[in-house]
Amino acid sequence: MPKIVNSWNDWDPLKHVIVGRCDNGMIPPEEPASSEKVPVDSDMRGMWGLRPLETVEKGNAALERLVKILEDRGIKVDRPTPLQWNQKIGTPDFTNDSMMGCMPPRDVLLTIGNEIMAAAQSFRSRYFEYLAYWPLMEKYFEEDPEFIWTQAPRPRLTDKSYKHNYYDESISIEERLVRTANKDFVTTEVEPMWDAADWMRMGKDIFVQHGLTTNRAAMDWMQRYHPDLRIHAVNFPGDPYPIHIDATFVPLRPGLIINNPVRPLPQEQRAIFEANDWQIVEAAQPAHDEPPALCYSSVWLSMNCLVLDPKTVVVEASEVHQMEQMDKLGMNVIPCDLRDAYPFGGGLHCCTADVYREGGCEDYFP
Ligand code: ARG
Repeated sequence: MPKIVNSWNDWDPLKHVIVGRCDNGMIPPEEPASSEKVPVDSDMRGMWGLRPLETVEKGNAALERLVKILEDRGIKVDRPTPLQWNQKIGTPDFTNDSMMGCMPPRDVLLTIGNEIMAAAQSFRSRYFEYLAYWPLMEKYFEEDPEFIWTQAPRPRLTDKSYKHNYYDESISIEERLVRTANKDFVTTEVEPMWDAADWMRMGKDIFVQHGLTTNRAAMDWMQRYHPDLRIHAVNFPGDPYPIHIDATFVPLRPGLIINNPVRPLPQEQRAIFEANDWQIVEAAQPAHDEPPALCYSSVWLSMNCLVLDPKTVVVEASEVHQMEQMDKLGMNVIPCDLRDAYPFGGGLHCCTADVYREGGCEDYFP
């Protein structure tokens, strides 16, 4: 029987991947701690509902372009099964007027070796998103006898999971930055909550962004669950909206990481990389001044690339500066026109989730 699931990092040769879908994508309604996560100048504030069909079609076409690039290189691509995301949902602890979508998969699925774990996300609107991936998990489970299929403890997401007086509309960017530096976030520590895209896997070590979507309890939980791995908290005080590590701190190959120049890793947290001769270089400037319409993310999706192997990387086709930098860093660059998918939750790394990369669990930071 074949081994289907295996991935320990973001750079070993990619053989099998999940690419999200934009179908039935929603702008979810406001819920506790959601407005804190939407930039103050965003065109999305205060609105919710189904995303315009035209944008869904364009987003899906962008994802198809990525699928073609991957399949042309012999990489197997699987897709989730979208739900009717505009349904109301409820648990004994909360109700919400809709869900969000099955983009981006990187936020939901964390692959560690032969295990794929569905995350314990802090957004109520994303509570049932994992269901879109369950048909794939059932298939992997049937076909790969070593596949470990798990779901992190489901958070209750009661009002206790969020700080309610954390924020009012007038809070300044400076104040937000002070809070990021002080590790004062809108989610509380009453239960583990995390998004998979906050976890940067590097073999035996996982670097986890402590921010608006992942708390300390989640890191504590994971360290106990995986006692053989080393879980490290990282924090980027330059980010007023610290959500997901993959537009901030992105490894390209063993020994090389690009770091968002406005969100540098603090000096004291660099020690482990320096001691092991890893180079942290400033990522190139984004080519755009603004994200596309109805997009949650910043222009720094420019650095949200998909590494296919330690010499090959897919970069968004309009990101000329990032492509040029990658080339200078010795990578072969494959451009992919993906910007129309950004509003659905992110770039090339976000809209994928690893199923299989060659290689095993290496110790890069002995
Ligand atoms: N917070 C990041 C930024 O705006 C975007 C990260 C998106 N990543 C993801 N996996 N959804 O710069």
